Amino acid sequence: MEVKILSAKFDIEDAHLLEVAKKHGAYKTLDKVFSMEPGQVIDEVKNSGLRGRGGAGFPAGVKWSFLPKDLDKPVYLAVNSDESEPATFKDRYILVKDPHMMIEGIIICCYAIGCHDTYIYIRGEYTSQVKVLQRAIDEAYEAGYLGEKVDGHDFRIDVTVHRGAGAYVCGEETALLESIEGKKGQPRSKPPFPAVVGLYDCPTIINNVQSIASLPFILDQGAEAYKVYGTERSSGTHLFGISGHVEKPGMYELPLGLPMPEVLEKVAGGVWKGRKLKAVIPGGSSTPVLTAEEIKTVTLDYESMAEHKTMFGSGGIVVLDETVDVVKLVENLIYFYHHESCGQCTPCREGLGWMLKIVKKIIGGEGTAEDIDLLVELCDNIEMKTVCVLSAACTMPVRSYLNKFREEFEAYVN
Ligand SMILES: Cc1cc2nc3c(=O)[nH]c(=O)nc-3n(C[C@H](O)[C@H](O)[C@H](O)COP(=O)(O)O)c2cc1C
Ligand code: SF4
Repeated sequence: MEVKILSAKFDIEDAHLLEVAKKHGAYKTLDKVFSMEPGQVIDEVKNSGLRGRGGAGFPAGVKWSFLPKDLDKPVYLAVNSDESEPATFKDRYILVKDPHMMIEGIIICCYAIGCHDTYIYIRGEYTSQVKVLQRAIDEAYEAGYLGEKVDGHDFRIDVTVHRGAGAYVCGEETALLESIEGKKGQPRSKPPFPAVVGLYDCPTIINNVQSIASLPFILDQGAEAYKVYGTERSSGTHLFGISGHVEKPGMYELPLGLPMPEVLEKVAGGVWKGRKLKAVIPGGSSTPVLTAEEIKTVTLDYESMAEHKTMFGSGGIVVLDETVDVVKLVENLIYFYHHESCGQCTPCREGLGWMLKIVKKIIGGEGTAEDIDLLVELCDNIEMKTVCVLSAACTMPVRSYLNKFREEFEAYVN
């Protein structure tokens, strides 16, 4: 079931070093890319159907074409390497095992959108990863893949690594821009969207690490070759981080569209210790949970997740066995999002704190049936009434646990 496109070099020793990466094909697309018109590169990416791998699944080529035409301002690219969503650990593989694949992707994107300055915003906790990444960037400069004349072509690209300081919210694209500008990492109201008013008020494209790292294959082999993998509307492959109660947790590259039960069984070795499956978190902690019964008809693509009223998210799948206490899981979940709230919206800052108090009260044996209803009411009153969707990233999954495992909350109350 596994495929090797993004992960092709992951098992090769020292593939993070330029010399080794080059032997295995790094930067070989550049001649072809520079022989194309920028618009042709954008069309190729559009035709590939590549959807943003940061969580929302917005088509990458379409986003690029939102940049205003006839610009009199510079265009920036920000590569989102914040990767702080609980259960998500795919981008770090790219950063440490094949950083040159991402740098090649940056060059392709910059050429397509007419950008000369890229910022890589990397999660503050990624201390060893940032060293590998910076070394790869330095090597790319020395070899002439970055700098004044990229690969000998009349095109400049400079890449700056910007380290976060440990705030989850800085993965939200506009908070990320504020943080790069040296301000407090708080999301901006949208519109205007960053493609029009972004970094330093200039048009800016923000793409996830994996989205950018998918570009060398697409430009080398062509959109059709990419679409061989996946489904019609969810093309290509994805790095799935499977964790939790499975025999073989790990990071697996799979084509989109595979049946979830088969993946959990055949790829991740099934539920550990011979226990029964209780539920699955399909794409990072912010995605609504699926019950053991529901997953029987789920395939790993954007459409199937939407049909099952959840989201594909970051591809971080968490398997929960029958021993999991859902109420304590929800406490942990709300604690995280409340702690990470930037505080500028009252429903998020106060509401999530209120929800946490109620769940703690329920766990402490002091809760009532009304408290369970109050939790649902709070979810309704918080969601989509805030500047960014961090609050919804908490209330959407919480509502799903309340709907699907209400009896566990009632057991505490009773
Ligand atoms: C609270 C919050 C945290 C986010 N964290 C990340 C992150 O760590 N990495 C990421 O790529 N996108 C993250 N996103 C999504 C980004 O805002 C943005 O949609 C994404 O980087 C766009 O890239 P893509 O189109 O390539 O997916 C986050 C969004 C929110 C609301
Ligand atoms: S929803 Fe929360 S994290 Fe997002 S801007 Fe408002 S307070 Fe900040």
